[in-house]
Amino acid sequence: MRAESLIVRGLGLCSKRLETLVPDEIDPRSPFFVGRRQGPYLEISGKRLVIFCSNDYLGLSYHPGVRGAVLEALEAFGAGSGGAPSTSGFTRLHHELSEAIAEFKHRESALIFSSGYLANLGALFALGDRDTLFFCDRLNHPSLLDGVRLSKGDHKIYEHLDLDHLESLLRDLKGYKTRIIVTDSVFSIDGDVAPLPEIVELAKKYKALTFFDEAHATGTVGEKGGGIEDLFDVRGSVDLLSGTFSKALGSQGGFVAASSRTIAHLKGKCRHYQYSTSLSPLCCAAALESLRILSAQPELVTTMRSNFDFIRENLRRLGLSLPERPAPILPVLFGDAGKTRKAAKELYLRGIFIAPLTPPSVPEAGSRLRITTMATHTEADLKILVGAFDEALKELKD
Ligand SMILES: Cc1ncc(COP(=O)(O)O)c(C=O)c1O
Repeated sequence: MRAESLIVRGLGLCSKRLETLVPDEIDPRSPFFVGRRQGPYLEISGKRLVIFCSNDYLGLSYHPGVRGAVLEALEAFGAGSGGAPSTSGFTRLHHELSEAIAEFKHRESALIFSSGYLANLGALFALGDRDTLFFCDRLNHPSLLDGVRLSKGDHKIYEHLDLDHLESLLRDLKGYKTRIIVTDSVFSIDGDVAPLPEIVELAKKYKALTFFDEAHATGTVGEKGGGIEDLFDVRGSVDLLSGTFSKALGSQGGFVAASSRTIAHLKGKCRHYQYSTSLSPLCCAAALESLRILSAQPELVTTMRSNFDFIRENLRRLGLSLPERPAPILPVLFGDAGKTRKAAKELYLRGIFIAPLTPPSVPEAGSRLRITTMATHTEADLKILVGAFDEALKELKD
């Protein structure tokens, strides 16, 4: 490779090079950067695109109220938090955010981390002693798997959503003081949902605790976006709920919500909380304002869902076989990486940005476009997507 190309690759692609490398721009193996992003619109190499793969499901990251709250926090605290929570890093905003998320999740208490990844890693690390056995769904998010691996506990993997397999493991593996079932609430790649009532029933039967990751459930499922317990109308049934502020809440940072006793235990034992600079106050302010907006305007969830229904129905009319999902994640499977990248490129050329999901994120046969909708997509945006898909599918056939 020429020296010039190497430099460009090291720094991110310059726009001249991007123009000549359209396919690479949307190839996850190539570095690229987003020049600008405002709500559901972004710019790559000067090209304006409508994004249909963002986790900013409610469009809150660019909401004027959220931006205003961030500016106020900037004046009051500056950009960074300047310390770990036990030194100077725990501000009024951290306190308010932990109270607000605990209330939103109907729990006594919550602990705030600087990312959702760290929340899972830290909480599971702190929960698992030598007498702990974790039971993990095979398709759990890597942060959950890394957390149980990092802990002193043992773990067993059950097949994805396979309750019979989970029960057989619970039945056969006694002899641990603490047993914890760990699962995503909404699985990020496919948008499928863990069967909460059945898992909780098994947990009761076999005296296990439950740990659900609400990353893609918060703000998306349940009538007002309350998450998986609201979806199944069984509030308070899970022992620990973790999650992130980086998706439907439009900010950054993670949390674990549980009883005051459990949170006190985590606070004392969790190195990922104690020895990491606490979340930026700007992110706290954004997440706090998002929670306020979501409570005041639950219709955002309804809008995001009706956008989702529109897309699903219209793509089905084009002949795509698409599953029913309560969460706004629609997997369009192509089954091989090359075809998936080509589909993404055809959409890109028609003004749509959907990053292709190919190995190693998914197995080759699971290569797909993961479509998500936002509350801020307009009807025109949705129609552009459907039209672009229609043409892209024809291109793929030729
Ligand atoms: C299911 C799940 N859990 C945890 C995370 C990590 O959250 P964050 O991006 O805030 O680190 C993600 C997102 O990437 C996720 O999809």
